[in-house]
Amino acid sequence: MKNKIPIGILGATGMVGQRYIQLLENHPWFEIAWLAASDRSSGKKYGEAAKWRLDTPLPRRVAEMTVSPAEPAGAPKVIFASVDAAIAREMEPAFANAGCAVVSNSSAFRMSPNVPLVIPEVNGDHLEMIEEQPSRQQSGGYIVTNPNCSTIGLVMALKPIEERFGIEQIFVTTMQAVSGAGYPGVASMDILDNVVPYIGSEEEKMEAETLKLLGRVDGHAVQPLQAGITAHCNRVAVVDGHTECVSLKLRRPATREQILQAWGDFRPLAGRDLPFAPEQPVEWAEQPDRPQPRLDRNRGRGMAVTVGRLRPCNLLDWKFVLLSHNTVRGAAGATILNAELLASLGKLEPAAVAAARA
Ligand SMILES: NC(=O)c1ccc[n+]([C@@H]2O[C@H](COP(=O)([O-])OP(=O)(O)OC[C@H]3O[C@@H](n4cnc5c(N)ncnc54)[C@H](OP(=O)(O)O)[C@@H]3O)[C@@H](O)[C@H]2O)c1
Repeated sequence: MKNKIPIGILGATGMVGQRYIQLLENHPWFEIAWLAASDRSSGKKYGEAAKWRLDTPLPRRVAEMTVSPAEPAGAPKVIFASVDAAIAREMEPAFANAGCAVVSNSSAFRMSPNVPLVIPEVNGDHLEMIEEQPSRQQSGGYIVTNPNCSTIGLVMALKPIEERFGIEQIFVTTMQAVSGAGYPGVASMDILDNVVPYIGSEEEKMEAETLKLLGRVDGHAVQPLQAGITAHCNRVAVVDGHTECVSLKLRRPATREQILQAWGDFRPLAGRDLPFAPEQPVEWAEQPDRPQPRLDRNRGRGMAVTVGRLRPCNLLDWKFVLLSHNTVRGAAGATILNAELLASLGKLEPAAVAAARA
């Protein structure tokens, strides 16, 4: 692209909003043109409004930008959204109705029948569902979502196995980082020296989203994968990186070597040249005590899922451990990759993309 596509960030001061800003610094296609947050922040310089929590400096240009009110007037036509579900439920349709492509992190519309829930490596074809949204016909705008941070790593590890062997049952237990709860998130007195065996609605989201992501578009709706799934979700004293222990029952027999091969061969975006796509989306960690959050969360610039400890399961067929970076692959990076796929398919506000390509 000769000219970058201007994008706006809704929820720019939050944990995920900050990750967008960090990851979009020097992005070859997108440029941050607008930042919005709550009334508490609007009207302030971003550097004053946001409590910057990331380990790279806040870009100076962004620090000097003024936070706008969270309204479509004056916003660019591509919006990366990361506000709470209750707020998103009101706001995202307003932006879509105003002609914006809303690429969202929130759970508000993930399970809506005409809203695609997408991981580009897994089900990019589900993006055709945007054509079913009334706003698409009226203003050109639409909503596309990415999954919950704990779902995304699981589904990326499952997809190559599902394709080759079919999956009948999934049993997953998570150990989720505190950054998944936003900032300031879980109080330090609650999480240090502790494990919290409850994350509100997380298990239900993981179970439903996994089956929609692995499902297929049939006419005007997604038919979810027909498989049994149960999730246990726990919060642990880790800053970034969700670890998950998974057991699977397969539809067809598979050897350990065949599963490793399926993960190794999984490169569905090869040749698409999407800047944020990891070269190897599912990386195998050979060592017996990996993956670990501190050591493996930044593989593939935080966009790869690491799998390890593949071994027979005494109850189902196979079990393994996976790890993914929850605010990169599980949130901001997921939205950016969805937007890159939309741009490459010519679905990001056609006029803006055409102008940028010219
Ligand atoms: N953290 C993760 O790992 C993760 C992963 C996947 C999905 N998500 C989802 O992403 C969303 C944001 O999560 P987060 O962790 O970034 O939360 P967060 O740190 O609490 O940030 C929330 C953001 O929303 C803004 N906001 C609050 N009320 C608003 C309003 N009325 N109008 C406009 N903006 C408003 C806040 O602005 P102020 O600073 O002005 O209050 C802030 O920018 C949630 O839906 C979450 O479930 C998070």
